[in-house]
Amino acid sequence: MRRATTSSTPGYGSRLYAEWNLPAISGRKNRIRHMTSQTVTNAPRDLIDAALAARDRAYAPYSKFHVGAALRTERGQIIAGCNVENAAYPEGVCAEAGAISAMVLSGETKFDEIVVVGLGDVACTPCGGCRQKIREFTGSDATIYIINDAGKTLLTLTREELIPHSFGPENLK
Ligand code: THU
Repeated sequence: MRRATTSSTPGYGSRLYAEWNLPAISGRKNRIRHMTSQTVTNAPRDLIDAALAARDRAYAPYSKFHVGAALRTERGQIIAGCNVENAAYPEGVCAEAGAISAMVLSGETKFDEIVVVGLGDVACTPCGGCRQKIREFTGSDATIYIINDAGKTLLTLTREELIPHSFGPENLK
C-alpha cells in the first residue's frame, strides 16, 4: 500500500481513497447504502405531518442538518421533537431524544411508532444513542419510519431491526 501524501481523510472516489486500498465507491447512489430487505410500509400521515413540522423548528446552526421526529404513544398522543445543537458541539440533542423527553414529561413511557425526517432523500436513520433511547420505551415490534422531505417513506424498520440483540430494562431484572 502506498503511503498517503496528506493527512486528510480521503473522500469517496478520491485518489487518496484508492491509495489507501479501500474499495472504490463512486457516485451518490453508492454512498447511500442502507442494507435492508424490508418492505417499505408508508408512515402514517399524522406522524409525517408532525415530524415535518417539528423539523421546521430545529436549531441546527452548526451542522445545518435539520431533523424532526414524531412518535405515537401507547395512549395515542403524538409527540414531536427536533434537534437542538449547541456551540459546545457534544451537548447537542437529537430530534428523537427531544421527542422521547417530552413523552416522559407528559407522563407516558411507551410508544409504538416513530417517524424521523432529516434533509433530502438520504434516509436519516437514528444514531446509535437514539437507537438505545428508542429501545428503552418500545416493544421489539415497534415501527420506525424514515421519511424524506416530501413525506415519502424511505425505510420501515421494526425496533428489533433497528437495534438487534439490544440491552434493555429486562436485563436489569
Ligand atoms: N441528528 C438527529 O437529530 N437525529 C438523527 O437521527 C441523526 C442526527 C442530528 C444531530 C445533529 O444535530 C445533526 O443531526 C447532525 O448530526
